[in-house]
Amino acid sequence: MPLGTVVRSEISMSDLPAVASEQVAGTVDELRACTGLPFFAVRIDSRCVVEVAGQLPPMIPDCVREELQQLTHPKKWETNAGMVFYAVPFCVENRTRYAALGYIPSAKASVAQVTRCEPPADLIIAGSQAGWSARQLRHFWNECEALSGNVVERLITLAAEHLSGRSARLRLEDELDHVTCQLDHTYEEISLLHDLSRNLQVSQGPTSLADLCVRRLHALVDAGGSLILINDRSRRNLLHSRGVLPFEPRELETLIESFSDVEWSRPLVRNHVGKTLLGADYPRLSNFILVPIQEGQHRKGWVFCCNRTHGQEFGTVEAGFMNSVATILGTHVRNTELYQQNQDLLIGFVRSLVSSLDAKDPYTRGHSERVALIARRIGKHMKLPEGDLRDIYLSGLLHDVGKIGIDDRILRKPGRLTDAEFEAVKAHPTIGYNILKGLSNLQHILPGVRNHHENFDGTGYPDKLAGDDIPLMARILAVADGYDAMGSDRPYRKGMPNQKIEEIFRKGRNEQWDPNVIDAYFACREDILNIYATYSLEAGAPIDGSLSTISLDR
Ligand SMILES: [Fe+2]
Repeated sequence: MPLGTVVRSEISMSDLPAVASEQVAGTVDELRACTGLPFFAVRIDSRCVVEVAGQLPPMIPDCVREELQQLTHPKKWETNAGMVFYAVPFCVENRTRYAALGYIPSAKASVAQVTRCEPPADLIIAGSQAGWSARQLRHFWNECEALSGNVVERLITLAAEHLSGRSARLRLEDELDHVTCQLDHTYEEISLLHDLSRNLQVSQGPTSLADLCVRRLHALVDAGGSLILINDRSRRNLLHSRGVLPFEPRELETLIESFSDVEWSRPLVRNHVGKTLLGADYPRLSNFILVPIQEGQHRKGWVFCCNRTHGQEFGTVEAGFMNSVATILGTHVRNTELYQQNQDLLIGFVRSLVSSLDAKDPYTRGHSERVALIARRIGKHMKLPEGDLRDIYLSGLLHDVGKIGIDDRILRKPGRLTDAEFEAVKAHPTIGYNILKGLSNLQHILPGVRNHHENFDGTGYPDKLAGDDIPLMARILAVADGYDAMGSDRPYRKGMPNQKIEEIFRKGRNEQWDPNVIDAYFACREDILNIYATYSLEAGAPIDGSLSTISLDR
C-alpha cells in the first residue's frame, strides 16, 4: 500500500471525509518517530480513519471505540487476543479532534510462540479490508516488537507530552506572528499620526494637511487611487487625490449618494464591487473604503481609497488607518474654523480700536496705519521673519491705542502742550499696554505698544530702556512713528519736508534711534516715501483692506 493513502476502517467504510490534513499526517509520523510504535489517525467526531501511512491496517476494537469520544489523555487497552491498543488524542488548528491509534503484540502474548506466528483473527479481517495480503500481514505481525502494557503506556505518555510541547510552541509562534503583525500596524499608525500631528497649524488651513494625508494614506493602504474631499467654510469643496481614480474626483459625491441609507458610524468597506449593482455604474471600481470626516454632528468631508493593488482586498487594518486620518482631519477642519472665527473677531476688535482712536484725534487720522506699514517695510529690509513682520504691523496699528485714555482737550489742543499736559500724554504707552495685556492673542505685540517712545540712549519713557534692551519691534516703531509724526501736519505746525526729517534722523542716530534701524530706513526710503504718499491723509486710510490680509498668528 502506498504511503499516505487514505483507507477505510471497518467502522466508517461508507463515509470517509475528503480531508487529510498535512498536520494530521505529520503528527502520525512524528508519534511513530518519537515512540517507535505504529500509528494511524482517526477523526474523533466521525470515527473515520483519515490518515494511514502504511504503518499498519486500521483497526478499532469495541473497547477503544466506546471510549474514543471521551478521550482526553493517552490511553492503552490490552485484549485477550494478545494485543495492546493505544491512543493519543490531539487536535489541529481548526479545533477538530483526532486520535492517533495503534496496536502491537502484547509482551505477554509473545511468550506463546504459536500465538505470535499467526496474527489474531480480528487483525486478519482488518488487514483484508485494508487490502493487505496474508503474507504482508504475517510479516507485519512478526516484525512488530511485543511490549508490555506498562511500557506502551509510558511511551504514549511521553509522546503526548512531546505533542503538547510542540502545540504550545506552535501556539506561541502564532501569537508572536500575530503580535508582530499588530505591532507593525501600530507602528505604521503611530508614524502616520505623528507625521500628521506635526502639520496641524490651524493658520495654514486644512489644505496642506489634507494633501499630506492623501499622500501617506495612498502608500499605506496600497490603494490604486485615493481622494480626500473637504467642505471648507466657503462651501467650496477642496479635492486632494493620488493615483488613478475610476471616476472624476468631483464625482465622489455621486458615489456617496448611492449609500444614502448608510448611517456612517464606521468606515464603509466594499470588496468585489464588480459582483454588485454598483459595478455596473462604476466598471473600473474593484473595491474601496469610504470614511466620512465628521466633527460632532457636522460632516466636513470624505476620505476615499479604492482599487487596492495586486488584487488585494481592503480590510479592518486599512479601514482603521483611514478612520484615524478622518478623525484628525475632522478635528483640524473644525479647529481651523474656530481659529478663523477667533481671528475675524480680533481683527474686528483691532479695527474698532483704531477707528475709535482716529475719531478721537482727527489730526492723526491714518497715522497708525502709516506707522504700521512703514515699520513693516523697515523690518522687511532687516530680513525679519514673516511672523515678526505681522507682529510689527499689528503693533504699529495699535501703538497709540492708549491715547483713548487721554483727555480729548489735551489731544485736540491746537497749541503747544504744557509740561503737565505732556506728562499726561506720556502715559499713553502704559495705558495702551494695560488695555491690551489681557488679550492672550495680542501678547506678542505688547512690547511695541509699551516701548515705542523709548530712546536708544535710555532717555525715553515709560521704562527708560536703552540700546538692545529696547525690544526690536519698539525700536523699529520708534523710527516709523517719528517719520510719520514729523512729516504730518499738526494744528500748531506744518509737516516737515523729507530732507528735514532725514537730517533729524542722522542727528538722532545712536541717541534717540537705533542706528541699524535708521540705516534700514535710508536703505528703503523710496518705498517709505511711496507708502506715506499713498496712505496720506488726503488719500484716506484704507485700513480695512490691509487688516483683512493680516494674520494674528505667531
Ligand atoms: Fe505714541
